[in-house]
Amino acid sequence: MKIAFSSLALPKSGALAVTVAAGAKLGSFGAELDERTGGLLGRSMKAARFSGKADETLTVLAPNGVEINRIVLVGIGNPADATQLTAGNAGATVVAGLLTSGETELSIASDAHEGLTVPAAEFAAELAFGALARGWRFERYKTKTPEEKKPTLTRITLLAGEAKAAKKAWERLEKVADGVFLAREVVSEPPNVLYPESFAERCAALRDLGLEVDVLDEKRMRKLGMGALLGVGQGSAKPPRLVVMRWNGGKPGDQPIAFIGKGVTFDTGGISLKPGLNMDDMKWDMAGAGAVYGLMAALAGRKAKANVVGIVGLVENMPDGNAQRPGDVVTSMSGQTIEILNTDAEGRLVLCDAMWYCQQEFKPKFMIDLATLTGAIIVSLGNEHAGMFANNDELSEKIARAGQATGEKVWRMPLAPAYDRDIDSDIADMRNIGSPGKAGSITAAQFLARYTNGVPWAHLDIAGTAWSKADKGVVPKGATAFGVRLLDRLVADNYEG
Ligand code: BES
Ligand code: MN
Ligand code: ZN
Repeated sequence: MKIAFSSLALPKSGALAVTVAAGAKLGSFGAELDERTGGLLGRSMKAARFSGKADETLTVLAPNGVEINRIVLVGIGNPADATQLTAGNAGATVVAGLLTSGETELSIASDAHEGLTVPAAEFAAELAFGALARGWRFERYKTKTPEEKKPTLTRITLLAGEAKAAKKAWERLEKVADGVFLAREVVSEPPNVLYPESFAERCAALRDLGLEVDVLDEKRMRKLGMGALLGVGQGSAKPPRLVVMRWNGGKPGDQPIAFIGKGVTFDTGGISLKPGLNMDDMKWDMAGAGAVYGLMAALAGRKAKANVVGIVGLVENMPDGNAQRPGDVVTSMSGQTIEILNTDAEGRLVLCDAMWYCQQEFKPKFMIDLATLTGAIIVSLGNEHAGMFANNDELSEKIARAGQATGEKVWRMPLAPAYDRDIDSDIADMRNIGSPGKAGSITAAQFLARYTNGVPWAHLDIAGTAWSKADKGVVPKGATAFGVRLLDRLVADNYEG
């Protein structure tokens, strides 16, 4: 899809979308278009009871007096309440309706509406983001898509009063979109294609963006003592990898910030085997790593002024003659021992070694990990919020604000000593599960907390938000890339310059 910016002038072909405010209020460009078409827009809105609510659309085909094929009116609600998300969702809604419509060209007029508080240039850029993000598809393995189901749109032009400023705002968002798409892609890939080594190769390819990438193999990890991570991978024919991606866009010598992702490329549960139903979902058990990978690409792409480390722990969790058993005791890189009571609680085992390595190697300002860690977080929060656990209020508040701004929302959950006691083991320093059926997301977070060593840390449990069963706003159904926009925003708003 090509995105372009141009001034607010009537296009001569394709489809034209126009924003409409609550109360069916047209902006100045829309009003002119209404006049040009002999009052067609006003009459259509009235006839269809179109009120301009956010995401409401109305299509007028073959309008007289203009050369375009159709006009799509899209509501943005009350301009005073409109945010960047309103714009993104409006762009997404328009594209959802037109992607396979036969139209190849779409112009979206980001009209001037009285009372709009989002700067016009930003509003237009966010419209473009939503349009592009919603139009993304993963079709690599489809060889027989019927013509009428193939996307036809190839070019989207944003018409904006301040086209130049809008284009400037877009330059940054376009790179974020690139990162979002990379994340969606790896999360969508089937597990026979995306496994630790092949995922590591994709990470290594980010060197083209100026990232430093170091891929640790099994031998190096064994030397470092990563017994927890290696234990998870030992039942798989696919050897594990730990990938370190670094972006040094900040002041030389400035302490970096760090993001760490769970990258279980397939989670069968291991010897504590999962039931067969929906086990295929566990191909996206690497969505945390996918988000870190996409985030690093976005930050490098837009040349973020910050020093950032991204670490992903990549393993496949399989049952096998060599697989770890319930009852095994492993020694993590920290030296702490872990009694494995359920081999399906593997994410924390991968993360604890990645987190320890991160601190030892990089002395980060803070660490944020992302992981599809527990089914229990889906019971708690459904698909609306990711669970957030933090040992630092300031960091947690910054993440929550970035969540509100990007629509990738988080909800803080508690940590407390009483939960921590629930993972004490009779024969080792800790066990890898708490009491069955009790606060599973919290005991998982308590486990990770034992590897933070006083470093400010937040853990995002994204099991409920990494994958969407239905289209939603700027996200088509499937991999959401949850975390890329959220953490890009966290960095942009707090850690650059
Ligand atoms: N990857 C799963 C968690 C998960 C479940 C992610 C559903 C996405 C959708 C994780 O490794 C896991 O199996 N967790 C167990 C932990 C339990 C054994 C303590 C769970 O949630 O059941
Ligand atoms: Mn598991
Ligand atoms: Zn898992």
